[in-house]
Amino acid sequence: MGKYIIKGGNKLNGEVFISGAKNAVLPILASTVLNSGICILKNVPMLLDTFVAIDILKDLGCEVNYGENTVVVNSKNMYKTNVKEDLVKKMRSSIIFLGAIISRFKEASISYPGGCNLGKRPIDFHLSAFKELGIKIEDNQKLIKASVDTIKERIIDLPFASVGATQNIILASIFVKGKVVIKNCAKEPEIIDMVKFLRKMGANIYGEGTYTITVKGVEKLNNIVEYTIMPDRIEAGTFLCMSAITNGNVKINGITPNYVKSLTDILEQMGCNIVIDKDNIKIKNDKKLKCIEFLETKPYPYFPTDLQPQLMALLATADGESIIKENIFEARNKHIPELNKMGCNIIEDNSTFIIKGVNKLTGKNVFAKDLRGGASLITAGLFAKEKTVVEGADYINRGYEHLDKKLNILGADIKHIKD
Ligand code: EPZ
Repeated sequence: MGKYIIKGGNKLNGEVFISGAKNAVLPILASTVLNSGICILKNVPMLLDTFVAIDILKDLGCEVNYGENTVVVNSKNMYKTNVKEDLVKKMRSSIIFLGAIISRFKEASISYPGGCNLGKRPIDFHLSAFKELGIKIEDNQKLIKASVDTIKERIIDLPFASVGATQNIILASIFVKGKVVIKNCAKEPEIIDMVKFLRKMGANIYGEGTYTITVKGVEKLNNIVEYTIMPDRIEAGTFLCMSAITNGNVKINGITPNYVKSLTDILEQMGCNIVIDKDNIKIKNDKKLKCIEFLETKPYPYFPTDLQPQLMALLATADGESIIKENIFEARNKHIPELNKMGCNIIEDNSTFIIKGVNKLTGKNVFAKDLRGGASLITAGLFAKEKTVVEGADYINRGYEHLDKKLNILGADIKHIKD
């Protein structure tokens, strides 16, 4: 799994360039099966999850080539409709391949993605929406088999603004005769990016970024498409927290500042000096930060669950007591015992976390149990003066490209030790 070794205490200084967004590139890679043609994707983050998605495409029979942050998929000769079990186990979000494969082949199968360290991660919203679209689902809790004659025109009202379910319903509806309307859909920027890509393919979709998305079916898609993936707002937010915990002075380049507004508003309340320009954010602070009374995670545009662990590490060193309520994942708490090993004072009350700020953290051997929890431990390690070893680097490398190099350029003493 590898590890990161951090010797904290250095202030982060300088500029960092954000990579393409993991949570945009994954649904866009799944979408490449739709046009049975060529898709040229630029600004692709070459992450462990990206390579799993590439392996899935190759296993389905697509031809995939990639170079420096560019991936070219030719899905013309794709012949398989089942997503390989061992790849699903590596990346549970491969469930979004289901909608795309059904759209093109009218059938698909995938092993049950199952839960992960964030909780159960059910897929009931996906499957009930598919059934409303007229898709026959056989589900023995191990394998899901889906087949359909024709996708039905429907208005689907999601019980929760699920990102993955929204993506899957869009993908399954691309060729519908008529239209599919998705109400209470997710508004995340990564959904907008996927829709922009599909529109470049020739799909007819509108309403992305609002609570209602409409897919008007088309007959055919363009067979050559080129697209540049949006920057990763969660990576940008992670660097904001990492700069702030070191009393740093950092410019974060190549992002859409509005996409991290829920975090920058909080950082300003805490006492950070934030300067926003059209595609970059400067953050500077040089004294102890203030706590925040109460914050809860919610779907976009509210504070994202994917930045909860990183902000928690920052709040653990602020002045006073902060409270975070985690509403999205019932088990996004595996970072808390590890942070407390380093001297944080965080109490859990179900999914409400009480964070009492401390003045000092101690470098320890800690264990990443999931991607953002791992980023939280590195954030804390940047503050602790001694050496911190974060085991489980591969969790972190699922979502951050060249994290050690980017932090080294900013002046952090961090090394990535591969296994
Ligand atoms: C996406 O996961 C992201 N992953 C997650 O990022 C992110 O945390 C999440 O959206 C919320 O923003 C990718 O895009 C690859 P959901 P997804 O469906 O689609 C429940 C990261 O760290 N739910 O919006 O799985 C579910 O259990 C990852 O980059 C059902 O109950 O999230 C959760 O409690 C982690 N039934 C909530 O909804 C369903 O059928 C939100 O899930 C589907 C979801």
